[in-house]
Formats: sequence, C-alpha cells, structure tokens
Amino acid sequence: MSKKIGILTSGGDAPGMNAAIRAITLAGLRNGYEVVGIYDGYKGILEENFTELTAESVFGIFSKGGTILGTARLPDFKEPDIQKQAAEILKKHGIEALCVIGGDGTYMGAQALYNHGINCIGLPGTIDNDISSTDYTIGFDTAMNTINWSMDHIRDTTLSHQRCAIVEIMGNHCPDLTLMSGIAEGADIIVTPTHKLTYKQIIKKLNNLAEKQHRRFAIVLVAEKMPEVNVDDLKKMVSAMTPFEAKSEVLGRIQRGGAPSSFDRLLASSMGAYAVQQIAAGKGGIVVSWHHNHLSTLPIMEALSLPQDPHKELLEVANTLML
Ligand code: F6P
Repeated sequence: MSKKIGILTSGGDAPGMNAAIRAITLAGLRNGYEVVGIYDGYKGILEENFTELTAESVFGIFSKGGTILGTARLPDFKEPDIQKQAAEILKKHGIEALCVIGGDGTYMGAQALYNHGINCIGLPGTIDNDISSTDYTIGFDTAMNTINWSMDHIRDTTLSHQRCAIVEIMGNHCPDLTLMSGIAEGADIIVTPTHKLTYKQIIKKLNNLAEKQHRRFAIVLVAEKMPEVNVDDLKKMVSAMTPFEAKSEVLGRIQRGGAPSSFDRLLASSMGAYAVQQIAAGKGGIVVSWHHNHLSTLPIMEALSLPQDPHKELLEVANTLML
C-alpha cells in the first residue's frame, strides 16, 4: 500500500489555493504517494469527508478562485479531545502526512496534529498577508489587484460627483492590504492599525485638501476591524464637517474571489511542490515560506511567534505621497 498525503484548506478562502492543491497533488503522485483531498478544512477530517485526488481531478484548477475542497472555520478544533480524535481518524485512513493551506489559525491546528504524530506542513493561504514568516501569502497579490481594480471604478464616479469615497478594506488586523493598495492606488488618506488617525485628524486633512489644494474629490482607505474608525460614522462626519459629500463602501468579499494572479499561481504552485519535497525528505511540523524570492521552511511555532513587519519605509512612502 502506498503512503498517503492529505490536503485541506481552512479559514478564509484565497485565490491560489487551488493552484496549491494541484501542485501538491501532482508532486505527491510523482513521489509515489496517494493524495487525499479533505473537504471543508478540519471539519472534514472529523466527518471523514475525503476524496481521492488524481492528475485528472486537479486538471486546470490552477486558474480558478476559491478552493475546490471547500473551507471552514472550526473554533472547536482548539479542544485537545477533538484534535486527538482527528489525528486518530487520519491514522485510521493511513494519512501520515498532511498539507494544510490557510492562515495562522490553520497553522495552530497543524501543530496540534503534528503533536499527535501526523506529519503536517503549512502553506500560507490568506488574502491578509498576516503570516510574518513569508513575504507574501497565497491570495494577497490577487486581492491587491482586485482592490485596485475596484478603486479605479470608485474613483471614476467619486471624481465625477466631486465626492469623498471612504472605503473599508479587509485584512483582519493586518495593515498590508490597505497600506499597499493605498500606495498603489494613490489614496489621499490611509488609516491602518499601524497608521492610526483620529476622526479629527482625518477631517483636518480633508479640509486642508479642499481649502489649500482646491481638491474637489478625495479617496480615504480604512482597514477593517479598527475600533477607532468606522466608515459609516466617518462618512457622516465628513459630509457634515468638510466641503465634501461623502460616500462609504465596504469592499467585502469581492476582495477574496476571482482567478488568481500570475504571482499567486507561481507562489502557490512553487510552495505546493516544495512542501511535498519536504514530506518526501521526512520533514514535518514546519511551514513553507517565500522570502527574498527563495523558498524555505520554519518550525510552525517559530513561524507563529514572529512579529508583524511594521513596514516602516512603506509608511514613510505613504506619508510622502499622501496629503
Ligand atoms: O482572513 C481572510 C478574511 O477575508 C479577513 O480579511 C476577514 O476579516 C475575514 O476573512 C472575513 O471572514 P468571513 O468571510 O468568514 O466573515
């Protein structure tokens, strides 16, 4: 009987997850493994919801958004009994190694299973780019492109009506999507957990823009989940306290869908094949990273303990280019 590698995707889906599934499957088959797809993340292990993955079943999926395996968030997977039960189910099915694609919560689950004797490898799959061990997570580049595409549209109408667009961007406490797409988009004001501004400061900047630069429109990007700034409250204040008529938008899950960009396909395909090379070499309890255009690995817990990059120089760039 050949050895088996399991694959699951967990947490928020991200464009490029399918390219990673394809790469793990093809590399696994090439290395003599049977490859088992697990539906709906860790929940699928407990439900024994498995499917055999073959070269045919993953054909062409690299260009599709979402994840063909489905995903879920399973807070109960923090429970030691449930982790043990999941490891036993995997062993019963002869799945000795498991590739998990997701964010930091997914990595925690992988560490738990590794402690129970399942050889787990994590691949960073999230649009948030909030995994510090890698320069880029799978899905981040596509989300950046989607945000910039959406903002181009919003800017057209904002400019035509001489309005102020206030747009909430995803990122789950990580500033990267807002900061980087804001720079790329030429936003007038960027508000993130590492670049906090009060309502008062935002109003002052907008009034300066209107009075000193005679600007008739403005673009404000606000990172989601910031208790300090709510886009609807800000909209009301801007309309009442500046010359701008303000409109607020929450870009929402449009940021998570769509065909992966070339870079996300490259990242996901490379990480997937590289992960299987590690498994074949007997390594586990690690995550795969892309750093300075090189692939590398790190123990899961070490990866999770790394501090978030504050992107100091990008903040300075943003400050130089903004109001
Ligand atoms: O982690 C990805 C992400 O899209 C975050 O940016 C966002 O906060 C969260 O997932 C939303 O998750 P859900 O679709 O489950 O509400």
